[in-house]
Amino acid sequence: MISSNNKLDSRERRNKVVLLAEDLIKIYRTGESETQALRGVSLKVHEGEKVFLIGPSGSGKTTLVNILAGIDKPTSGKVFWEDLREDITRSSHEAIIKNRRNYVGVIFQDSKLIPHLTVEENIRLTAHYANLDSDETEKRLEFILKFMGIWEKRNKKQNKLSGGEQKRAAIASTLITNPRIIIGDEPTGNLDIVTSNKILDLLDKINVELNVALLIVTHSQLVAQRADRIIEFSDGVILAQHSKNIQLRELKRTRELEMDRQNRIHIPQSILEELNNPKHFTINLENKKIVLRPIYQQEDERENIG
Ligand SMILES: Nc1ncnc2c1ncn2[C@@H]1O[C@H](COP(=O)(O)OP(=O)(O)OP(=O)(O)O)[C@@H](O)[C@H]1O
Ligand SMILES: [Mg+2]
Repeated sequence: MISSNNKLDSRERRNKVVLLAEDLIKIYRTGESETQALRGVSLKVHEGEKVFLIGPSGSGKTTLVNILAGIDKPTSGKVFWEDLREDITRSSHEAIIKNRRNYVGVIFQDSKLIPHLTVEENIRLTAHYANLDSDETEKRLEFILKFMGIWEKRNKKQNKLSGGEQKRAAIASTLITNPRIIIGDEPTGNLDIVTSNKILDLLDKINVELNVALLIVTHSQLVAQRADRIIEFSDGVILAQHSKNIQLRELKRTRELEMDRQNRIHIPQSILEELNNPKHFTINLENKKIVLRPIYQQEDERENIG
């Protein structure tokens, strides 16, 4: 007999939260100007979940993942890593580096190795910075190099490796510290399609076999179709979530608008434009549906007066 648990979808089955963000706001101030890059972002990633982050250029994706990874601080808001009790936005730089090794691995589009060191030396150096003891480093090193398919390349330096091998080595460096989640900002952005696919297969393998959650920023359809869940970002807020099988060019077909912690829902810009950008609405419940009707009256009256 099939137990009722099997009917739960992946979101419900994975209860343990590995990453939690609450009400993140980030304001960049440069001289006179001010950019609100994050305007109140809250999210959770569960153990072993594969979440992708999409959204237009400048919508705040890099700002968000840098804050979630402890690389940058928000103007306000909180970030928690799994069972670490402290809010990492208040932790010292040293505490973040120390804690990152048990919780979070980070990969960037241009993740680089240190050029005069071999692959193995690069990974050892990461382990050293993370204060991993040498027994543990030895135990994990061979496993990780083989897992990433670069055992044969362990004594090579960066200039003797292909782009894909360099990326594997960078991911291996991240894995040596045994993170619960890998955060990536367009990690395959500068690779060709074949190499990208191989790296994505490896990330899938890390996700499934090592139960490491993934939170990956992407502009690529190729990448997005591999997600458990997709978060759509727009202008510094989470606009919507999507389940599997999305088409990046047709997001409105799969969009589930997301209510934030203050019960706010953001209406997609394309819909507002189609309605001539109304500023006021009536709201009613009709057959258990929420119906918003734009009101144009005030503007019309003002125009008449003018
Ligand atoms: N260091 C900074 N100083 C000032 N403004 C910044 C800084 N970093 C980012 N911004 C601004 O914050 C907003 C969000 O930028 P962010 O890099 O997070 O966007 P993104 O979604 O990652 O874009 P892309 O898809 O192009 O990488 C943009 O308006 C950007 O110009
Ligand atoms: Mg970016």
